[in-house]
Amino acid sequence: MTEQDRHLEEVKKQAFSDYAKYINPMKVRTLNQAGIHIMEGRREGAAVWDITGRKYIDCQTGSGIMNVGRHNPEMVAVLKKALDSLDIGVFLFFSEQKANLAKKLAEITPGEDLNSTVFGVGGGEAIDAAIKLARGYTMKTEVIYTEKAYHGHTGFALSAIGRASYREPFEPLIPGFKMVPFNDIEAVRNTLTDNTAAIIVETIQGEGGINIPSDDYLPALRTICDEHETCLILDEIQTGLGRTGKMFGCEHWGVVPDIMTLAKSLGGGIYPISATIYKEEMQDFFIPHPFIHLSTFGGSDLGCVVALAAIEYIQKHRLCENAEKMGQRFKAGFDGILDQYPQLLLEVRQKGLMMGLQYTNESIGPRMTKKFAERGLLAVYAGTDSSVCRFMPPLTITAEEVDFILNVVEDAMQELSKEKGISSED
Ligand SMILES: Cc1ncc(COP(=O)(O)O)c(C=O)c1O
Repeated sequence: MTEQDRHLEEVKKQAFSDYAKYINPMKVRTLNQAGIHIMEGRREGAAVWDITGRKYIDCQTGSGIMNVGRHNPEMVAVLKKALDSLDIGVFLFFSEQKANLAKKLAEITPGEDLNSTVFGVGGGEAIDAAIKLARGYTMKTEVIYTEKAYHGHTGFALSAIGRASYREPFEPLIPGFKMVPFNDIEAVRNTLTDNTAAIIVETIQGEGGINIPSDDYLPALRTICDEHETCLILDEIQTGLGRTGKMFGCEHWGVVPDIMTLAKSLGGGIYPISATIYKEEMQDFFIPHPFIHLSTFGGSDLGCVVALAAIEYIQKHRLCENAEKMGQRFKAGFDGILDQYPQLLLEVRQKGLMMGLQYTNESIGPRMTKKFAERGLLAVYAGTDSSVCRFMPPLTITAEEVDFILNVVEDAMQELSKEKGISSED
């Protein structure tokens, strides 16, 4: 070990100890146990280096923040240039940057009517705005959400989160929220009343374990919402902006929501911004209340410049097509591994580069995450279902990187298959 290596190890040790003392000791312990106690240094494309120099291919990507790749030089250049003349901007006034981004979002979202946008900073805020808008516009109060859903930890979003351990410590939450199983149309029909303002779902559940709905689910929700003057809110915070092989997840099923939320990759991996895009007719709600939903930093001028550049990058570099193509390559590899290790793997879930491996039991998730990290791969089990490992690499990923990941997964599976307590003969 060189002097420099020793120094970096010391820096890392000190930062962990400060993190534990001043931020969150349990997070440090948990990440240590999971073998993913990395401290991010250099970032480039699909790769990230620990400050001590160890390279990882990143399939965690903050659950899909990095669609354009890590520390994308074009994004960095755009932000640097914007800083020559802009700051965050004052939310009360108009700006060309906000107008340009809102216009672009209207252009790329499906259907003719998703033309209006409220900006925010993060995903939870975008969900809060969506639910407020649905309630305010319909003058109804109930909201139907799904088991294992993840929409963020702010007020309305937390009330719609499908995991009891996140919700319960803060109850009573906002009244009128009713949970139904995901992908169950009958349950929605049985729960809906004349007072249902909105049904909110992710087009594919991310934190819940890459749950892909059956083909009739989203179209049926659309029909139900139309019949009952209820808003369909589609949370595209993970699935949007090319992740699934199309610009938006809902395009796989030809469904246009009344309200769509975007965040994560909208910021190009370098600047936080979110958007709640809604049908133009719902603008009516804002006529008597132009200042009813405000966010000081939401849709900052800098964020809007970066977001516009991120969308243009996805289009220019055909990242939807790459997501579809690389997704197929992953699927072929994962299917082969599934055939080899049926005692460890139950299912491969995949739409573009939104992918999950369903293990045969929950204990396998953390064990595999650790083995992956030892082999230079970051892929972490889902927040709400540790029997599923999520793979959400940047959409810029290359065939060589896909093959590297597949080799790591196969090698880790092989090692795990020999361990005690795994095979049915143990
Ligand atoms: C589908 C989905 N919706 C909403 C959110 C909340 O976003 P944020 O953490 O930016 O508040 C997340 C975050 O992971 C998410 O995955």
